[in-house]
Amino acid sequence: MESAYPITASPIIRFVRGIHVGLFDTSIIETNIATFSKLVHITNALAPLDDRVRSYLDSNCAQCHRPGGAQAFFDARYDTPLINQGIINGLLMNSLGIEGARVVKPGDTNSSILFQRDMSLGDIKMPPLAKNMVDTDAVGVIAQWINTFSSITNSLTGSLCQCGIGKSAGGVLAIERANRPRICK
Ligand code: HEC
Repeated sequence: MESAYPITASPIIRFVRGIHVGLFDTSIIETNIATFSKLVHITNALAPLDDRVRSYLDSNCAQCHRPGGAQAFFDARYDTPLINQGIINGLLMNSLGIEGARVVKPGDTNSSILFQRDMSLGDIKMPPLAKNMVDTDAVGVIAQWINTFSSITNSLTGSLCQCGIGKSAGGVLAIERANRPRICK
């Protein structure tokens, strides 16, 4: 019989334990675990901004916002590359009456519905359940992140391929207004 293990065990011990009791539907080689990519905390100033925000969205939103999930087009999962997430210049089902709004509108928190809903405690709040306070750390970092996209976007919007352009940790990326992602060379 398996012996009990302390609830205080480190996340890595609990993860390995999960492998042993068959919690995962794919086989995981224990010695590879250290090489897996890791989510980071939103306040971790040593990590790239993209990683901090995308980790937060994965942890707090991706259980609903994923293909086949809640009524929306974007995908909050960290494993989906930013350029394919439908977030930057991503189209909306409900623009909340804000003209030109997007899931995230580069450089414009007022027109970024993801931001507006994250900072809300009203009818539009996200997550919609069990939320009675705003995560001010997250809201601040997300605003900072949205604003990193502004300068390049402003200079290139409307040019060539009608791209909204954003700067990311991995370099320069572009997402077409029609929400069909492409890398601009
Ligand atoms: C429990 C499930 C659930 C969670 C968790 C959740 N959402 Fe949502 N979200 C929904 C549902 C359902 C809708 C569509 C209905 C509505 O407008 O409220 C929605 C709509 C949205 C929309 C508008 C989409 C559009 O195209 O109009 C945004 C943006 C959004 N959520 C952001 C977030 C963010 C950011 C988080 C995490 C901080 C989050 N959501 C967490 C269920 C969820």
